[in-house]
Amino acid sequence: MMARVLLAGCACLPTSDGDDTPLADALAELGVAAEWVPWDDPDTDFTAADLVVLRATWDYAARREEFLKWCDSVPGLVNPAPVARWNTDKSYLVDLAAQGVPVVPTELVAPDAEPTWPAGEFVLKPSVGAGSRGAARFGPDQLDAARGHLAALHDRNQVAVLQPYQAAVDREGETALVFLGGHFSHAFSKGPMLSDGSELDASGLFAGEKLAQARPAAALRRAAEDALDAAADFLGVDRTELLYARVDLVRGADGAPLLLELELTEPSLGFRHADPGALPRFASAVRAALARR
Ligand SMILES: Nc1ncnc2c1ncn2[C@@H]1O[C@H](COP(=O)(O)OP(=O)(O)O)[C@@H](O)[C@H]1O
Ligand SMILES: [Mg+2]
Repeated sequence: MMARVLLAGCACLPTSDGDDTPLADALAELGVAAEWVPWDDPDTDFTAADLVVLRATWDYAARREEFLKWCDSVPGLVNPAPVARWNTDKSYLVDLAAQGVPVVPTELVAPDAEPTWPAGEFVLKPSVGAGSRGAARFGPDQLDAARGHLAALHDRNQVAVLQPYQAAVDREGETALVFLGGHFSHAFSKGPMLSDGSELDASGLFAGEKLAQARPAAALRRAAEDALDAAADFLGVDRTELLYARVDLVRGADGAPLLLELELTEPSLGFRHADPGALPRFASAVRAALARR
């Protein structure tokens, strides 16, 4: 019987933003019937699918517990629910730093806690969030505005993430390295999101992004491999069990790579900015995940 795969989107972008919309066709070419459906669609029985692939579920931030409960209820979910639970809160960066991963210095600021403000420019962003929403950049002379932003995040019951602003992002953006089934597949760069003029796209879910295909230097590729190993180790999974992973790296003041995000939940994988083999590789990784079940 033909395997049935559901690709989970969200109600306002049910087939993603276009980037991996062609995944359904790429899977059909391999004999897999795949269909896009919003994760919170009440008429879909997600337990009946052979595999449910988390893809464009980008509206979960405001209702994370509901989303994670849904994840728990889907036996064929990839990446699986415990991975989503750990990875949908940027506090995982602190876990990875404790594992020895070079991470952008990260302080979690809970409501009522007084942060240690970095000496230079810094970023405040919600610990649960995506698409740059709620992220803001401040200079050392803007502490009043920063306190206001912090209070606004706390008013929304958010823990805040406080990081020194990495100036290299203004020059070269960040580099996203995509792993499929634990193997490096392709990479793309993303321009700075917190410089002047960044705006949310029409859906309001993510800011307009300047993406381009990238050929990351060895130091970045090695840092991404190390970060992925550390995450798999922390989660107690074999990294080949992770259908997809995106490791976002920036360069610190000394030029060494630092982890900005390790996305295991619903990362955009940049197929529009990848070689034409990338999408078929993803389809093959889905087949491998089906074969494991
Ligand atoms: N510490 C930082 N230094 C420089 N730029 C940052 C920093 N934190 C966030 N940014 C910018 O804000 C964007 C969004 O932050 P990020 O941590 O990637 O969260 P998300 O993508 O989940 O919203 C990044 O793509 C980057 O351009
Ligand atoms: Mg990001």
